[in-house]
Amino acid sequence: MHILITGGAGFLGSHTCLTLIEKGYEISILDSFINSSIKTIEGIKKILRKAGIHTNHHLNIFKGDIRDKKIIIKIFEDAIKNNNPITSVIHFAGLKSVSESVKKPFLYWENNVSGTINLINIMNQFNCKTIVFSSSASIYDDSSEKLIDEDFPINPTSPYAKTKETIERFLKDIFNSSSNTWRIANLRYFNPIGAHPSGIIGEELTSHTTNIFPIITKVALKQIPELKVYGKDWPTIDGSGVRDYIHVIDIANGHLKALEFLNANNPQIINLNLGTGKGTSVIELIKTFEKVNKVKIPYSFSERRDGDKGFVVADNKMALSILKWKPEKNLEEMCIDGWNLKFHK
Ligand SMILES: NC(=O)c1ccc[n+]([C@@H]2O[C@H](COP(=O)([O-])OP(=O)(O)OC[C@H]3O[C@@H](n4cnc5c(N)ncnc54)[C@H](O)[C@@H]3O)[C@@H](O)[C@H]2O)c1
Repeated sequence: MHILITGGAGFLGSHTCLTLIEKGYEISILDSFINSSIKTIEGIKKILRKAGIHTNHHLNIFKGDIRDKKIIIKIFEDAIKNNNPITSVIHFAGLKSVSESVKKPFLYWENNVSGTINLINIMNQFNCKTIVFSSSASIYDDSSEKLIDEDFPINPTSPYAKTKETIERFLKDIFNSSSNTWRIANLRYFNPIGAHPSGIIGEELTSHTTNIFPIITKVALKQIPELKVYGKDWPTIDGSGVRDYIHVIDIANGHLKALEFLNANNPQIINLNLGTGKGTSVIELIKTFEKVNKVKIPYSFSERRDGDKGFVVADNKMALSILKWKPEKNLEEMCIDGWNLKFHK
């Protein structure tokens, strides 16, 4: 099976590519490298080489933008010429910084939403109708202390989260227009962290990152003096915000399982939470990172930010039962692997 992975050079995409190639899939990556580097592709090849897997026939790289129809058409055409048409798409490509999206809504709507419309349009032309889409837990309303299941109220606040919700709605319309043909899984990730245990690939430390884990890493590397913890009076175990951290390898396996599930079943559209179901406070995350990696993470408390939430933890029962998938890695492994990125040191 030949899978197109948009954004395959990014954090989640690169680990998913690796998992799929290990399982024998052929992969074509389309990435603009706006937030990733070709070094990650070299990293994927290196890990596979070490495992005795040669990538010549398994991994094709296309540098391009999902907003550019020509490059997407070329990928589908090349695959047909090579007698190995693309059968499914895993769609990671997108911009993901909540704060940047507030400042640059045009960019986010155009990149994420228009780019996805292009992609679906061309998939439709080539009769490729199976897609796993990277959605986000940020589309849910504030949950207070309740676990969030897939039927939980939706209320995206940032432009970023609104683009994800809009794409889900668009995919629903596409499905409804031809419901006996499309197979669609919207995977709503909670907080993916960690890295490949080899330390060869992981999350890029971009300057505008707002995700907590790369910031902790930067503090540990003394690139920034301290971590700001937003809010100390949430109704949580220690007053700091609680999130559902999940290892990136578990996320990658979730994609493999979602793809297998779609291909083994009738056309459908399904929303699934990918999380561990366990809440961890920011302070607990800091303490675990310090303990397992023997480094200091100075931090101070700041005011809550607009739109912040105190408790965002998945009810993951649906993914567990439908995908026959289970997160395997604990918080300590996430912290060890995340810190072990050789190219960050
Ligand atoms: N990492 C998270 O915490 C998280 C949580 C929820 C949802 N998501 C979603 O999952 C997806 C992957 O996230 P990630 O953490 O791997 O992010 P990432 O930034 O590491 O990867 C995204 C990749 O897409 C590429 N890209 C962006 N716009 C593109 C375009 N127009 N055309 C082609 N390539 C483009 C980037 O260069 C990058 O390689 C994103 O859509 C993100 O919104 C991520």
